[in-house]
Amino acid sequence: MESIFFPSDFLFGTATAALQIEGGDTNNNWYRWAQQGHIKDNTSPLRANDHWKRFKEDIELLAELGVQTHRMGLEWSRIEPEPGRFSQEGIDHYAEEISLLKKHNIRPLVTLYHFSHPLWFEDKGGWENEESISDFLRYVRFIVEKLKPLVSDWVTINEPNVLLSYGYVLGTWPPGKQDSQAMIQTAKNLVLAHLKGYMAIHELYQGEKETPLVGVAHHLRIFSPLHLLSPLDHFAAALNDFVFQGIFLEGMGRGRFLPPLGSGYPLGRGRFQDFLGINYYSRDKIQFTWNPQELFAKRLVAKNAPTNNLGWEIYPKGISLLARRLWKTYRLPIFITENGTCDREDVFRPQFIYDHLKEVASLIASGIPIQRYYHWTFIDNFEWIEGESAPFGLFANDYQTQKRTWRKSAEFYQEICKKKAITEKMIQKYLNTEAYKPLS
Ligand code: BGC
Repeated sequence: MESIFFPSDFLFGTATAALQIEGGDTNNNWYRWAQQGHIKDNTSPLRANDHWKRFKEDIELLAELGVQTHRMGLEWSRIEPEPGRFSQEGIDHYAEEISLLKKHNIRPLVTLYHFSHPLWFEDKGGWENEESISDFLRYVRFIVEKLKPLVSDWVTINEPNVLLSYGYVLGTWPPGKQDSQAMIQTAKNLVLAHLKGYMAIHELYQGEKETPLVGVAHHLRIFSPLHLLSPLDHFAAALNDFVFQGIFLEGMGRGRFLPPLGSGYPLGRGRFQDFLGINYYSRDKIQFTWNPQELFAKRLVAKNAPTNNLGWEIYPKGISLLARRLWKTYRLPIFITENGTCDREDVFRPQFIYDHLKEVASLIASGIPIQRYYHWTFIDNFEWIEGESAPFGLFANDYQTQKRTWRKSAEFYQEICKKKAITEKMIQKYLNTEAYKPLS
């Protein structure tokens, strides 16, 4: 293993989402989903990390970790608890949290929507209802107007494709549907919400000193054919790639609707992002089948591939394959808005970090403008339907006492942030090439 170095203006950060860490809110769709018994370990986002109350302590920890930037989410239901009624407490809270990050020289990247929304929005039909777009815009305009003195980097929507797959195809996330018509309608609304949100944010900064940076955090995966010699498997992999990610990259990035969303440019041609956000975790092997449902739902793991605790393949090269492709197509700066892994014992996470950062460093060396890396995630948290049982954190969390503990990975990341490098000494101290376990 060789040392790796990053440019001095490269930013290292951590990423979180409001619902996954804050706790204490009952006015959102995920609290209800948990109440209805859908979480595997019967936990609820009501507890999470109690970050809402402990944010000062957590920001101290982030400062000690030495991150230069932090991606955090806002909980819409705390800001707009009823349609059109905004909560001063909610706004003040986020303004205080962001000010504290800035006091520690941590640059905020703020996500406006990360899978959770107010119950009133859910009860109107959520993103499937066309009114969702104007509801979202009202919230965006309001909060951006309030926070723009503190924030200039925004993610409008996190992973629309993941929301649609689980919420409208598999039905394991709220609203629990398995309905392709509803899925297509919802996808269109999410794309339009981003496009209009992007324009609204830029409009709100007109005349301001800062120009905002606005983008989407796209969940991107590698889809590869199970059998390399099978043309049908190649076709199936390409189809998965197109449906799961291609239509969102084009839709949200260029305002271009592709089937099954439609065709053409509903809001005109343009560029609707200032950076490309990549959330990268894994690769799927795809096998062709005539069963249309299985064609998109059956994702396999390569034979003997290393996997994490959730059985996801660890495939660092994927980050390079995706970034190269995106750079070629969109020619925009890239932020790795999420990358991390579920490792209960923290045995392979340091190696995971090294292997992915090595890809990032070599992309930069070859001229691809990757500017930031956000590790998912700062602390073990409420991992959607996995509940509290899937730890992705640099820090461990004891949910009973809410005590945060440094993992070896956190110490490693601290050194990375400080040195903007992984040196020979760090390799010896933290890494272990034997750490990965193949799927048994
Ligand atoms: C999501 C996070 C999630 C992480 C790990 C991403 O898809 O944006 O909210 O916790 O993956 O599953």
